[in-house]
Formats: sequence, structure tokens, C-alpha cells
Amino acid sequence: MSEQSKGLFVVFEGGEGAGKTTQLQLLEDWLTGAGHTVLRTREPGGTEIGERIRGLLLEHGQGEVDPRTETLLFAASRAAHVTQKIRPALASGAVVLCDRYIDSSLAYQGAGRGLGVAEVAQINAWATQGLQPDVTVLLDLDPALSAQRRAARDGGAAGDRIESADLVFHAALRQAFLDRAAGAPKRYLVLDATGSMEQLHAEIRGCLQPLLNGAAGAD
Ligand code: TYD
Repeated sequence: MSEQSKGLFVVFEGGEGAGKTTQLQLLEDWLTGAGHTVLRTREPGGTEIGERIRGLLLEHGQGEVDPRTETLLFAASRAAHVTQKIRPALASGAVVLCDRYIDSSLAYQGAGRGLGVAEVAQINAWATQGLQPDVTVLLDLDPALSAQRRAARDGGAAGDRIESADLVFHAALRQAFLDRAAGAPKRYLVLDATGSMEQLHAEIRGCLQPLLNGAAGAD
């Protein structure tokens, strides 16, 4: 049960190709099957305005977006998401499963684009009024393996604008995610994303099970 409300706020983080989508789906199915009310959502996005910001950020052909503009757009999407969707769901006792949250901005914009993790953290603390996940599941994957997985998934097609960044960038953001986890080990579940789908799902269930008793809909 969350410290900040009746529900439970669970975030999935990691580089591209780490298997977040698969694990989110397995977890959503398991939670729903166990009678929990689940809000599954994603960033950027999750609200009407957030999805429009997502389009601006991720589509090809928008031209170069400078890192500060990018950071503010992610934070704006997040502010709307927290206010309109995440806080109300937590207040009603739901389990919120979110694909990416603040740590993605700290890794991609703070570390990857070189704006500095501390400054990006400040902007995001303001945007979210301090809302932190109860648990962050970090699916950790070597960037070289991640690039292979992406290429296999996309059939060799070019990814979106951000996915086209190079391996050095991805190595920097992997380290930023790991640093965040090391700074608050009780709030992170760091998993080696090369594990089998079933094994990873079992570890995630094992971590969340003791925290779920207060969330809505549970027996
Ligand atoms: P998406 O297609 O959702 O990628 P993934 O499946 O890997 O989550 O695109 C989201 C992209 O936006 C991804 O490259 C990570 C990036 N991103 C940031 O740079 N900063 C952020 O704060 C967030 C939430 C995402």
C-alpha cells in the first residue's frame, strides 16, 4: 500500500528493447485476475494533452528539439498525467502501472542529453508535486543487446527520433538508471532483462505481493 494514498504506484523503467511492454501486460493480467483495479498507462502520454505532446516529441519530421524544450515537454506531459490520472487513481485505491516516469527524464535528458540529473529532478519534482513511485521495476539490459532486440522487433526499420541515438548515449542512460536504483534500493527492483519472460514476471510478482494488501479490489 502506498505511503501517499490507498493505491500502489508501480513504474517500469529501462532502455528500449528491455521487455517492459511484455512484463507490463503479464503484470496487468495477473493483478486484474486477482481482483485489483488497475490503471495501466504510459509516458509521455496518458492524457489527451500528454498524447499530443508525445506526438510532438517522438514523430519524425519535427526537426531538432533542443534538450531543454524536450525536458519541459516531458515534464508538462507528466504534470497533466499525475494531476488528471495518476493521483485520482491512487486515491481510489487502484494499482497504477506506468510505462516510464521521472527516471526516464533523469536518464535521457539529465544524463543522456547532458542537462544534469539534479536540475532535471528539480523540474520534475515541481511538475509532479513530489509524487514518487512506491516501486520502480528497472529492466536492465546491455545497450548492445538492446539494439539487437530493437532491430529484430522492428525488422531492421529505423526507430523513432530518440531511438536513433547511438550506443554511447544508451550506455550513459543505463548507468543513470542504475545510479538511481542504487540511491534508493528499497524502492527499486532491478532485474537482468535477459532472464526469461516467466522468470522476470515471477520476480516482479514476488516483490509486489506483500505491498498489495491495501490496494482496491483485493480479496
Ligand atoms: P516509446 O515508444 O514509449 O519507447 P519505449 O517503448 O522504449 O518506452 O518512446 C518513449 C521514448 O521517449 C523513449 O525513447 C524514451 C523517451 N523518454 C525520454 O526521453 N524522457 C522521458 O521522460 C520519457 C518518459 C521518455
